[in-house]
Amino acid sequence: MKAHKIALRNVGEINPASIQDYMDRGGYEALKKALHTSPEKVIHDIIQSGLRGRGGAGFSTGLKKKYTSEAACVLLECMHYIVCNADEGEPGTFKDRIIMEGDPHLLIEGMVIAAYAVGAEQGYIYIRGEYHQSIHMVRKALAHAHARGFLGHNILGTGFSMDIEIKLGAGSYLCGEELTLLESLEGKRGYPRIKPPFPAESGLFGMPTLINNVETLSHLPAIVINGAHWYRGLGTEKSPGTKIFTISGDVNSPGYAEVEMGVSLKELIYLVAGGMKDGKPFKAALLGGAAGTFVPESLLDVSMDFDALKEKEAVLGSGAVIVMSKDQSILTMLDSILRFFEHESCGKCVPCRVGTKQLMVVLEKLKGADNKRPDHIDSLVYQSELMAKTSLCPLGQSPVLAIKSAVRYFRDELEKPESFQSRCQ
Ligand SMILES: Cc1cc2nc3c(=O)[nH]c(=O)nc-3n(C[C@H](O)[C@H](O)[C@H](O)COP(=O)(O)O)c2cc1C
Ligand code: SF4
Repeated sequence: MKAHKIALRNVGEINPASIQDYMDRGGYEALKKALHTSPEKVIHDIIQSGLRGRGGAGFSTGLKKKYTSEAACVLLECMHYIVCNADEGEPGTFKDRIIMEGDPHLLIEGMVIAAYAVGAEQGYIYIRGEYHQSIHMVRKALAHAHARGFLGHNILGTGFSMDIEIKLGAGSYLCGEELTLLESLEGKRGYPRIKPPFPAESGLFGMPTLINNVETLSHLPAIVINGAHWYRGLGTEKSPGTKIFTISGDVNSPGYAEVEMGVSLKELIYLVAGGMKDGKPFKAALLGGAAGTFVPESLLDVSMDFDALKEKEAVLGSGAVIVMSKDQSILTMLDSILRFFEHESCGKCVPCRVGTKQLMVVLEKLKGADNKRPDHIDSLVYQSELMAKTSLCPLGQSPVLAIKSAVRYFRDELEKPESFQSRCQ
C-alpha cells in the first residue's frame, strides 16, 4: 500500500486559518503558474492527468472542463459558472469536511484554477448546512484570499476576475445530486432536473456550469505544479492519483486516509484502520455508502479503483467503507439503507415515491416471515430493478445496488428467519 498525500498534504501540518502558513508550503504557486498558461493548456494537462471525479461517478474531470469551456451560451448575456459540491450527504463519507476544515485554501486555489480554465467569473461552494466548522473555515479563507488578491477583480494583475460565494444546503441528501443542487442554488425546491442537458451545457440559470466535488478540485494545484505525467504515475492506469477513504464500522481505528488508488480493501482494513474490532472475523463491507454495494470476504483483495470494482459489480462511490464483522446482520443494514432512501425520496416521480415505500413493506414481511422468505427476497430484487429502470433520477436507481449485492453474496443469511437484529438490542 502506498500512502501519498495530495488533497490532505497540509492537513495537520499547517494552521488552516493562516493563509501565510498555506503559502509557506507552496500554496497559490499553482494558481500563479496556471494564470500564466493558456486555459486550453490547463484543461489539456488535466485531461492528460487522467483525474476522475471524486464525488462518486468518476467522470473525467478534464473532459468536463473542456465541455464547459466550449459550451456556447444560448442566451445573449453569457456567463460561465463553477460550483463546488460540498454537500457531502452520502452516509459514511466525511472526507470533504477534512479538507475544508484542515486546508480550505487548497480547495479555493483548485477552484480558481478550474474557473480560469473554463472561463467562469462566479463560483459557489454549496456546503452542507450542518458543517458549521467547514463553513466557518472556508468563509475565513475566502476573505484572506481576497485580501491577498487571489480572488476578486483582476486576480494577481492578470486581468482574470472571479469571485466565490458560500451557499448552504439544508439537509436534503438529494441536493447533493448535481442538477438538484443547481435547483437549490437557484432558490427553488430541491427537485432533480431531467438530464440532458448536462450542467456543462445548461447549468446554473441556464448557463454553462462546471460542478466538481471538493476532493476533485483539491487535486488541481498539485497537477498544475507537478504535471500530468507525475499524476499518472500514482494509482492505477485508469484511475490515477490518490483517494481519501473514510473507514467506519467494526474496525479498531475508524477514520480516514489518503492512499493511492488501487489499494486493496484488506489493506484499508488491516493497515489503515487497525484491523477488525476486537479481532472479530470480517463479514462484509458496504462500499460507497447507502448508494453503494456490499462486498464479501472473497473480495478483500480487490483493487479499490473505479474499474476493478465495476468489473465485480461493486462501486467505489465517494470512498466510504463501512465494515461489518460476522456479528452484524446484513438484513439490519439493508433495513437502514432502505429506510434512508424512503426518507430521502423527494416524491417527484411515482416509481421512487411509491417504490421506496413498497421496498419497506416487502422488507417488513421478510423480517417477520418464517416461511416464503425466498419469495420476499425475489420481490425485493424485482421491485428495486423496476425502480431503477423507471425512476426519474439516480436516487431511485440506487437501492438496487445494495439489494442485489446483498442477495448475491448473502442470500443464505437473508433466508434465515433470525437474520434481522433489532436496533433496540
Ligand atoms: C443522490 C445523490 C447525492 C449526491 N451527493 C453528492 C455529494 O454530497 N457530494 C458530491 O460531491 N457529489 C454528490 N453526488 C454526485 C454529484 O451528482 C456529481 O456527480 C458530483 O458533484 C460531480 O463532481 P465530480 O465530477 O468532481 O465527482 C450525488 C449524486 C447523487 C445521485
Ligand atoms: S427518483 Fe426519487 S428522488 Fe428522484 S425524482 Fe423520483 S422521487 Fe425524487
